[in-house]
Amino acid sequence: MNIHPHLIELMVNGSPAPVSAAPGRRLSDALREDAGARDVKIGCDAGDCGACTVLLDGEPVCACLTPLAQVDGRAVTTTTGLNDGAPSPLQAAFLRHGAAQCGICTPGMLTAAQALLDRSEAPTRTEVEDAIGGVLCRCTGYRKIVDAIMDHAGSAATPAPQSGRAVGQRIERLDGLPKVMGTEVFGADHWPDEALMVRALRSPHHAADFAFGDLAGWASSHPGVEAVLTAADIPGKNCFGVIPPLADQPALAETHARLKGEAVALIAGAREVVEALDLADFPITWIPRPPSLTPEAALADGAAQLHEHRVGNILVRGRVACGDPDAAMKAAAHVVSGGFETSFVEHAYIEPEAGNAWMDGDVLVIQACTQAPVMDRDDVALILDLPQDRVRIIPAAAGGGFGSKLDVSLQPLIGLVTLKTGRPCRMVYTRAESMAATTKRHPAKMAATIGADTGGRITAMTFEGDFNTGPYASWGPTVATRVPVHASGPYFTPNYRAETRAVHTNAAIGGAFRGFGVPQAAILQEVLYDRLAEASGLDRLEFRRRNALLDGQRTVCGQVLHGVGARECLDALEPHWQRALGEAADFNAGSTVIKRGVGVASCWYGCGNTALPNPSTIRVGLTAAGRVALHQGATDIGQGSNTVITQICADALGLLLDDFDLIGPDTFLTPDCGKTSASRQTYVTGKAAEKAGRALRDAILRMTNMGPDAVLAIEGATLTATDGSARQQIALAELPPDANGYALSAEETYDPPTSALDSDGQGTPYAVYGYGAQIAEVEVDRELGTVKVRHMTAAHDLGRVINPLLAEGQIEGGIAQGLGLALMEEFIPGRTENLHDYLIPSVGDMPPVTSILVEKPDPEGPMGAKGLGEHVLIPTAPAIFNAIRHATGAEITKAPALPHRVLAAIRKAEGT
Ligand code: FES
Repeated sequence: MNIHPHLIELMVNGSPAPVSAAPGRRLSDALREDAGARDVKIGCDAGDCGACTVLLDGEPVCACLTPLAQVDGRAVTTTTGLNDGAPSPLQAAFLRHGAAQCGICTPGMLTAAQALLDRSEAPTRTEVEDAIGGVLCRCTGYRKIVDAIMDHAGSAATPAPQSGRAVGQRIERLDGLPKVMGTEVFGADHWPDEALMVRALRSPHHAADFAFGDLAGWASSHPGVEAVLTAADIPGKNCFGVIPPLADQPALAETHARLKGEAVALIAGAREVVEALDLADFPITWIPRPPSLTPEAALADGAAQLHEHRVGNILVRGRVACGDPDAAMKAAAHVVSGGFETSFVEHAYIEPEAGNAWMDGDVLVIQACTQAPVMDRDDVALILDLPQDRVRIIPAAAGGGFGSKLDVSLQPLIGLVTLKTGRPCRMVYTRAESMAATTKRHPAKMAATIGADTGGRITAMTFEGDFNTGPYASWGPTVATRVPVHASGPYFTPNYRAETRAVHTNAAIGGAFRGFGVPQAAILQEVLYDRLAEASGLDRLEFRRRNALLDGQRTVCGQVLHGVGARECLDALEPHWQRALGEAADFNAGSTVIKRGVGVASCWYGCGNTALPNPSTIRVGLTAAGRVALHQGATDIGQGSNTVITQICADALGLLLDDFDLIGPDTFLTPDCGKTSASRQTYVTGKAAEKAGRALRDAILRMTNMGPDAVLAIEGATLTATDGSARQQIALAELPPDANGYALSAEETYDPPTSALDSDGQGTPYAVYGYGAQIAEVEVDRELGTVKVRHMTAAHDLGRVINPLLAEGQIEGGIAQGLGLALMEEFIPGRTENLHDYLIPSVGDMPPVTSILVEKPDPEGPMGAKGLGEHVLIPTAPAIFNAIRHATGAEITKAPALPHRVLAAIRKAEGT
């Protein structure tokens, strides 16, 4: 093949876009870099994720697998070409159905769907699923995407809610339009002119010492390379981490790499040069060390001190204890014991980490995908020795996060390059880099014993768990602390002892991932509760109802809770449970190889930080022009906080959603709303938004001398307050600007009332919990060990449902991730490199989901609301494992339940 540049005549969205490039260059690359079509997303460069799907002469293709040689003279259509400026019917349907959460898969989904609709106006559901089968979504669980495509011709737009009535409405996401139009700006989608491309050199060893050779000589021998930087160039403290005493991860390793994939040097230069570099001649000498990849190996290797600051390679321990579990266990009528092991789970968001940096005067500006802009600012300032007011973080839209984008990754790296060179720069992780260098769900090895009395009431529980936290702390302390608080599940447990350890290894970094260890613990607790129910002679759902935590009862931390919806969720499942059991029994009576089973599991989850300060601050202002500016610093990574928080603020203030303009997040424009983690944004930032809305309303009522029931309205630049026959108007443009530059404004902070835990974990770890329970219906092939989830029924207590459309989307997306955790996802350090050797659920894996939204108001939550985002994943895997056992008798003891593990468990159960 001729590798010299050719002129390729492309037609992109109806316009000529000639590209001079090598014929083998990827179409995706040419479209984004040369043709400006940044609505074409790149998730893997291997044809696995389908995010880059475009239409080539009307047929869907993966642009990353299509060489330019194949497209000369042909027509390419991308998402922005699907409309004439206003959303197409299909794009409108995506908005209406909440089919775009983070939105990174949406362009690929839309083009794949459009190709089908161009052939068939009224496709069947199966045809729709086939059409999008090659496009992965990590957020939605696919159900709403399929619904939207099926309803592409519909037009039932959601009516705009009246003033004060936004909460509770199925409102389309307020930030959804750019996601469906392909104009959303993700981490890789913006860069200043002349930006240098940054690439990291990474450790090829799990553990190694290293030394650099002649870096300057190497750089000068590679034209186009502008800078080579190492830890020696970092002006500040080469260290970041989420909890300052435990912060231990260098931005660039200095002389020792503890992780395969750890960054040790940066190369910056012209994009085409940097991307083409063969780094085999980079001047570095590696001296590999024997790694410890499992907690067992690391604990045995304690004398070697994998991490020199940690005794015996233990990062931290967690403990919660109450009552006398040993005595109660001896006295119990029924006792069950067991263990469970889970694997590393990859976040597998479709958007690998990406961002860009530039100088604005003497301010370093970083735009990157993140879940924690203020934490990013603080870390970058520390690492680069800059005052915090000289670092500005502007979060790009995040194409999924699920916890991993809480950790600083490339932000200090691109900041360092810009600071040292004075040039703007950009960096985009490859899928392999993202998988190697970023955090995973902690693998857990757990054992527990639970006792019950003759009536099937839980009397005692003991739990032990080791969590593989990898070489750096990341969120290991949080996992070790959070698990013991939750390992009882939402059940009254009067005698309890749970102890955890986070253990350092050279495997992947264990970090935050939707649930912070609680999903792992819930698997063991719920599997054992099924066995305890049977030992007690009780129906499995009835056993859980009998033990569900009630208002006024004490948790294992001694906290007395109110607004507990655990029992209500189980009650809501009762008719579905009876139906599912009956259907499974009928089916099994006529089937020997394929067996159906039904499982149930519950969850609870404390919202926000564990026993630590966790404030959010919201500012809301009325502009002279008559708009409401909501300074909202919480990153919306697809979960819907931009919409939900605005709904809460609008109702607290008493104005229309349409009156609002969202500002931020941006550390120069928005107060600190904390991290998007631990299901805290609806509750904590929502409460701050409620307080700020009410404070602004109070100021207006004082100014107009109106009573609390006055109705507010904005028309043009005039604010009107009406109370019965009384009416007052404020000409907003005539008011002098206040300290925030607004005609009127308010700023309020909310910090959950928690307290520190004592050495037995007694105290108030969280002010608000959410609750849920799910039923899984599965089909197991006894000869192949394969498992198909046929249906999920999910009842979740949200306290107050702020937006049912988005809540359903969270439930369906959480179930998809729980299904992956249960049946297919296993990251193997050093081996797993891409989405073809790490499988996540595709549309074909997702069962129908029946969502039941329970409302038991929380006394503390905004308008009674509780968090939801983490909760929805927790019961899915244990419900599936319990269903497998119900179908076949097989006791799964390691996740994921891959066919060979299921088959072995079946053989064991059958004694064959
Ligand atoms: Fe599909 Fe986020 S909405 S990956």
